[in-house]
Amino acid sequence: MVLGSRIAGTGSYAPAKVLTNAELERLVDTSDAWISERTGIKERRIAAPEECTSDLALRASRAALEAASLDARELDMIVMGTITPDRQLPACAAYLQQKLGVSGIPAFDISAACAGFVYAMSIGDQFIRTGAARNVLVVGAELLSRVTNWMDRNTCVLFGDGAGAVVLTPATEGSGRVLSSKLHTDATLTESLCIPAGGSREPLTHAGLDERRNTVQMVGNDIFRIAVKNLSSASRSALDAAGLTPEDVDWLVPHQANLRIIAQVSTRLGIPLERFVVNIDRYGNTSSASIPIALDEAVRDGRVKSGQTVLMCALGAGISWASALVRL
Ligand code: UT7
Repeated sequence: MVLGSRIAGTGSYAPAKVLTNAELERLVDTSDAWISERTGIKERRIAAPEECTSDLALRASRAALEAASLDARELDMIVMGTITPDRQLPACAAYLQQKLGVSGIPAFDISAACAGFVYAMSIGDQFIRTGAARNVLVVGAELLSRVTNWMDRNTCVLFGDGAGAVVLTPATEGSGRVLSSKLHTDATLTESLCIPAGGSREPLTHAGLDERRNTVQMVGNDIFRIAVKNLSSASRSALDAAGLTPEDVDWLVPHQANLRIIAQVSTRLGIPLERFVVNIDRYGNTSSASIPIALDEAVRDGRVKSGQTVLMCALGAGISWASALVRL
């Protein structure tokens, strides 16, 4: 009998170039003090001109496969959360699959913005639960610097580039396991966080390009309020589904959008901030990549250990939000 899936390995990759708050002060009317106090971000990574999203995903995937002692040819499926694919068509996961040197297995993208990785992991888990797949590569990869308006201080200070991945394999008696996952979408705030042009609703025109309508636009306050509320409730739902309480959580790995959001979720859940994995100061908001990067760092530096219980929660454009509870 299949007991569900477990995380057999994690990996991540962040581009070498660091963009500091001090450098942003020279681009837009902002300050290190404002960015640090309002978001917790100190610096972020920016991909090299020759890098594309599947390159970042490849580095993270190889690290996760190595940690899982698995060859890419043993994979049954690749699911990638991304809103910044290499091209609008085809799926970024197809390019990743090609770079991994495999073919024939399903490889597809999930568009759930910052919740993309948790969505993708939940999908991988369901395939393994039903026996339809054994080994699933789950990736969150973003190259947000290519869809950022570098003249808009409301958004350009927030985002960064990076990728993270996990390999899911069947759980066995006594092994770790994905305990529960909860996925949600609510379309009431679609216009508060979007890339307006470039789709069927508003094809990109010269005028649209001049107005940078092909870049991320956000009404930060709207998203902030709903993030605190929904991340807290989704976390509780994942705990309820597994019959656990906040006291049972060893680590919470939240989406890294704003340190103030993370702190408020900590208060609402009654889980102290010391039990949160936070790296927003070094990477900013990397959308779907933020959770798997933070998880991988915490696994590799020994904070998150085998047998511990980890809660993940994320919210982004859509509004889409999700939570997952995992025993490592
Ligand atoms: O990952 C997907 C989900 N995204 C999120 O969860 C993001 C949620 N939202 C946020 O994290 C916050 O709303 C922001 C960090 C985006 C903005 O912080 P805020 O405290 O909500 O600021 P605000 O938008 O209310 O703006 C306050 C002031 C404004 O000036 P006035 O109108 O009061 O004079 C802004 O123009 O701060 C100004 N401001 C800035 N000042 C310096 C906005 N951006 C900047 C900036 N530097 N970069």
